[in-house]
Amino acid sequence: MPSMAANNFSRNTHQNQTKGDFVSRKQKIEQQRKNLPIAAVERRLVEEVRNNDTLIIVGETGSGKTTQLPQYLFKWGFCRDGGIIGITQPRRVAAITVAKRVAEECGIPLGQKVGYAIRFEDVTSGQTKIKYMTDGLLLREALLDPYLSKYSVIIVDEAHERTIHTDVLLGLLKNVQKARSKSINGVVNTDHNSSNNGHALEERIDNQNDGILKSCQVKKYNPLKLIIMSASLDARVFSEYFGGAKAVHVQGRQFPVDIFYTHKPETDCIDAALITIFQIHLEEGPGDVLVFLTGQEEIESVERLIHERLRQLPECSRKLLTFPIFSSLPSEKQMRVFMPSPAGHRKVILATNIAETSVTIPGIRYVVDPGLVKARTYDPKMGVDSLIIVTTSKAQALQRSGRAGRDGPGKCYRLYQESFFEKLTDSTLPEIKRCDLSNVVLQLKALGIDDVINFDFIEKPDRTAVVNSLWSLYLLGAVTEDNKLSDVGRQMARLPLDPVYSKALIVASQFGCLKEMLICVAMLSVESIFYAPREKLEESRNALKSFASPEGDHLTLLNVYRAADEFFQKNKMVHSEEKAEKNLRKWCKDNYINSRSLKHARDIHSQIVRNVEQMGLRVTSCEDDTLLLRRCLAASFFLKAAMKQPDGAYRVTLSGLIVQIHPSSVLFRAKPECIVFNELVHTNHSYVRNVSRIDYLWLVELAPHLYAVQD
Ligand code: CDP
Ligand code: MG
Repeated sequence: MPSMAANNFSRNTHQNQTKGDFVSRKQKIEQQRKNLPIAAVERRLVEEVRNNDTLIIVGETGSGKTTQLPQYLFKWGFCRDGGIIGITQPRRVAAITVAKRVAEECGIPLGQKVGYAIRFEDVTSGQTKIKYMTDGLLLREALLDPYLSKYSVIIVDEAHERTIHTDVLLGLLKNVQKARSKSINGVVNTDHNSSNNGHALEERIDNQNDGILKSCQVKKYNPLKLIIMSASLDARVFSEYFGGAKAVHVQGRQFPVDIFYTHKPETDCIDAALITIFQIHLEEGPGDVLVFLTGQEEIESVERLIHERLRQLPECSRKLLTFPIFSSLPSEKQMRVFMPSPAGHRKVILATNIAETSVTIPGIRYVVDPGLVKARTYDPKMGVDSLIIVTTSKAQALQRSGRAGRDGPGKCYRLYQESFFEKLTDSTLPEIKRCDLSNVVLQLKALGIDDVINFDFIEKPDRTAVVNSLWSLYLLGAVTEDNKLSDVGRQMARLPLDPVYSKALIVASQFGCLKEMLICVAMLSVESIFYAPREKLEESRNALKSFASPEGDHLTLLNVYRAADEFFQKNKMVHSEEKAEKNLRKWCKDNYINSRSLKHARDIHSQIVRNVEQMGLRVTSCEDDTLLLRRCLAASFFLKAAMKQPDGAYRVTLSGLIVQIHPSSVLFRAKPECIVFNELVHTNHSYVRNVSRIDYLWLVELAPHLYAVQD
């Protein structure tokens, strides 16, 4: 058992909520809403929004910002001009769960007045007035509607997370706001003093209208209200960025939380977490437990281990229920974490850092924090974007412990030493400083912002990272030599995919294998299709064999998709759609395929089929011509090619990085001379995943700007 040293943190205390007697769910929700800290300042907040075009709202997590403010604004007439209220979230899970909650609070079905939209899923309608969405999605909307004309209010929520999309969005919204207010004053296009980007927006709007509007007739837009919401205490950076915009603070309700550290460093954080969970369960008073883990895999193994250990406990001590929450969990399961635990039971919520600020789960009294988080990092020299596990910042650790003190005094167990806490960085580096920028650069260019380096970012990305992404966009043919967006680039930007995948679809339409590439791209866009539980490794490997292609993982994925689709279509001929879906899930289970991932891939597939059809691309099939398909893979993924070395390792042609083929790949043993791959992962080695066998000469033929015949 990790030994814990107590370290008291004192916080301001408030009285707990009064419990109602037997009341209906509706009344209960009404009561909860009234008790939220934000409810006390409803009118004041609404006034502030009325008086300020840009407002920054800082408030402790759980005070009611995300769920309540949009409802207040709706109630107080901010949609009267026909516009709607948009709220962006960095995470899909937050957008979905919050929208569901708000629809329930309003007593209406989701998708009507209240809805959400995330990539590949739109649960809104013409009636939707409060729309939750991811920040990335709103950026995409700006491509089609540069003035974001349907919104009267846009709330950028969780701005402190500083995701790359939030940062870009802030810059963009600043311009949209300027352009919309100019349209009211009738000053458009003629103002050459406007900032580079504001000007770009106007020019783009001009282009869209074939120049007919040129500086005379201009549509008038209502002003855009912009609200930036954040959980951290430092509003200054946002306020300064928005020219000294007003910041208001919403007081939270926080009980004291005792912080415990371990006496010595923990080597196995999963084991330490387990021990702590059971220590709490067996020795502490009532209250649910929130455990911060790094991802789906870790969550699933901790869940399994908890169940194993529970079986060893006497019957009376087994009243512990586990609830995972992570982004790829199906949404009906995500909602389960919000249900109160049945009488006499304790809930253990196993969460990624979703639960740090974006999702508030009631009833938590104990937090277990191993101090780790999965984060994106980017190595501009190698051009490698990867997800790795890093230590949290101090700010994150504080947010996490704060989750224990919402409903009463709580305890937080940090699975590291106090001296280690002191060494943590104060806050996390914004994502824009640590990820591949090609997607964002492509989008900005499609929005008419050519000079990306001088774009008014809240924090500038590194120049090398921008230059590198321009270089890879150039190699993909998305930008021209003088850094302008090409026609291909414009097409690529219309697809909701990574630039490399968008390009692959365009290339495939020329090769005559778009039908197959659409499937490959959909399958590559989801988390692991194959499901290999530790205790059934042998069986799952055998199952994979029936789909495996000696040509590589892309064709293997294609085989899986086709087999699943054939099975589904046959079933649909004799059964209802529901029954066919159910049978498909069973088929997945029998074949060790992750049915959730497959479902997601099928959804993505149908959306991108619609996208390419709208773009006028011809969806033709190469049938069984695998040679043609592999040539197309080479022509699409030439940026990620590698050659076998004498020792059996691979050398990535562009970066020189030495990598291995990942053991999960069908080519792990075959080790062909030359490969293309889609993914690079770092654990103790650098591995490449989703690999296909190609011929080096194809690279010379199909990507001559990069490859020459070797001596
Ligand atoms: O945005 P902020 O962190 O200020 O709070 P919020 O997300 O609006 O949450 C306000 C309250 O709603 C919290 O007490 C949550 O526990 C509750 N809530 C809920 O019960 N179910 C949800 N799906 C979302 C929020
Ligand atoms: Mg919130």
